[in-house]
Amino acid sequence: MQYDLFNPPPLPEEQESKARIEALRAELHRHNHNYYVLGVSEISDQTFDQLMHELQDLEAAHPEFYDPNSPTQRVGSDLGNEGFQTVMHQRPMLSLANTYNRADVQAFYERVRQGLGGTPFNICCELKFDGLSISLIYENRRLVRAVTRGDGTRGDDVTANVRTIRTLPLQLREGVAAPDHFEMRGEVLLPWERFETLNRVRQASGQPLFANPRNAASGTLKSKDPHVAAERGLDAYLYYVLANDMPSDSHYANLLAARMWGFQVSNATRLAHSLDEIYDFIDYWDTARRSLPVATDGIVLKVDSLSQQEQLGLTAKSPRWAIAYKFQAERARTKLLSVTFQVGRTGAVTPVANMEPVLLAGTTVKRASLHNADIIQSLDLYEGDYVFVEKAGEIIPQIVGVDYDARPLLTGRKVDFIKKCPECGAPLVRYEGEAAHYCPNTTACPPQLKGRVEHFISRDAMNIESLGPETIDDFFARGLINDAADLYKLRVEDLQGVDGSRRKSAEKIIAAIAESKQVAFPRVLYALGIRFVGRVAAQQVAEALRSLNTIRQASLEELQAIDGIGQKIAQSIVDFFADKRAADLVNRLVAAGVQTSLPQQEALGISLAGKTIVISGTFAHHSREEYKELIVRHGGKNTSSISKKTSFILAGNNIGPAKLEKAQSLGVPLMDEDTFLALISANNNANNNF
Ligand code: IVH
Repeated sequence: MQYDLFNPPPLPEEQESKARIEALRAELHRHNHNYYVLGVSEISDQTFDQLMHELQDLEAAHPEFYDPNSPTQRVGSDLGNEGFQTVMHQRPMLSLANTYNRADVQAFYERVRQGLGGTPFNICCELKFDGLSISLIYENRRLVRAVTRGDGTRGDDVTANVRTIRTLPLQLREGVAAPDHFEMRGEVLLPWERFETLNRVRQASGQPLFANPRNAASGTLKSKDPHVAAERGLDAYLYYVLANDMPSDSHYANLLAARMWGFQVSNATRLAHSLDEIYDFIDYWDTARRSLPVATDGIVLKVDSLSQQEQLGLTAKSPRWAIAYKFQAERARTKLLSVTFQVGRTGAVTPVANMEPVLLAGTTVKRASLHNADIIQSLDLYEGDYVFVEKAGEIIPQIVGVDYDARPLLTGRKVDFIKKCPECGAPLVRYEGEAAHYCPNTTACPPQLKGRVEHFISRDAMNIESLGPETIDDFFARGLINDAADLYKLRVEDLQGVDGSRRKSAEKIIAAIAESKQVAFPRVLYALGIRFVGRVAAQQVAEALRSLNTIRQASLEELQAIDGIGQKIAQSIVDFFADKRAADLVNRLVAAGVQTSLPQQEALGISLAGKTIVISGTFAHHSREEYKELIVRHGGKNTSSISKKTSFILAGNNIGPAKLEKAQSLGVPLMDEDTFLALISANNNANNNF
């Protein structure tokens, strides 16, 4: 090829792609920040998607430039799905002392004044976010680790889930100076709107509801599958910077700096110069907080100067330089009319209080949860009592007390927990260590039967869209079905009107039921409604054991050896298949033709025969799931924990120190992914020569 002076040959393809990948990442980080934190956008959604797709394609073509902090990783990475690793906090995570009234706030203010010997001070006023505290470690401007509070000294490494939070910078904004190494603390939350959507979906599929956004955020952060976190849409507000070289002696100024670095710092943060300014802040947010997109449960007051903070010091549990002021939970008083008992899909019986309608935190409330028998007993409740109802962080109002002074002389009936199921009459049972009562009649109690069929047809299960709770109710009422397997026996003639009317809709239903036989096996397993076996657990078990028959015969130990499956889930699976009637249902589903296995994975070689391999870290060429599959298809065995029997560790980047230590102490060697890939392909070629 001739050299053309005016058209120099392009850079090697490799280098050009790298430059483009980096430019796209920087650009997308900037647009993310603009959009999610600043609430503005320079480009249309469409252009954003185009840039994102271009980056995804380039990254797929160039796995060598893999970066866990790339904007593409926000959609939830597959990596790091093993149980969470426990990590020591670099600095302990303390909590705050709580106060509930102005007098306490004033007392705090006076203590600070005295502690500082009369030197002037400012107080930084912040909202107290009601989520889970998180510690984020940034090194060289990149997020390297996210750890839950845990016990304050050590917490769980939840980096994979935290990476899905779109308002968090995986990489700091360019062009602003920041310490090389710092810790950022804040609160992970599930915004109200997403919380409500999540509960609506769970209700529709018969899953238990989250009581409040905090519980939902906690469940999400601890989820083994980062896709769950990505899908649910967690958010984070940051309120504390820790570094050896802090930008300023003012906490408030440091928060403003953090905002420049790309963090979401609440706009409600204010510097107060007097007690009155603190009261103003409290009074304002006491009501204004109701229109915030996330849950808050109070105000946090912090002495602003870091040197003054140091001067004041800490007590055993909490700093002397900060305090939390908790909002009064919203409360109303109304008359209790009656208590009814509801039976759910699992047989759990929930007591519900029916009350005279009352206005509470902006909505009219006429029903409240009474939780369980112990709570009813401790309230000493009578029908006709005046009760206090609260709706603090809880979305479901609850009765928190009785106005005993207002109890009429002639009381109504005493409220007692029922002894028999209100639906089928079976005597209720209470399992050891559980607060709830259950109806044990799983095979004939109507709401349980219906609930299980509703779960079976729900979207994440068999997804039979043309059926809904009303149709299921109707099928039961007409004696057409008794369980999910009966659905597959229905005929158009059973569903259409006697005069042949409604034939079209009947045909549609029958077709949808038949179509569900194609639904993949993991969802069939989920659809069975085995207690504690959610979507993710069903997927894990199905992928590991591959067929219904293997799962049916699996021992407790075999089930527990599966990633993400603990003793509770494993036991529940064993119990389910040991139950004769459940086994009968499963047999009839099998006979109806639902999927009972995942496709066979064709063997690729025997180079790993007899080898037990643990996968750890993050990889450039394949996902963790793909490596698992490669191991099995080359005759090896993949396990999750390191033992003497481990042949070697397939080691990616960022293996946790605890793992490394264990490998070393047991003398288990590490193998990097290139060597591993070479090993299996070399042996394949050798096999091909035979
Ligand atoms: S500062 C040493 N600021 O409340 C001070 N905490 O009991 C560390 N929280 O565990 C905490 N909003 O989870 C601080 N603006 C805020 C907060 C906040 C919520 C949570 C945090 C902490 C708990 C304190």
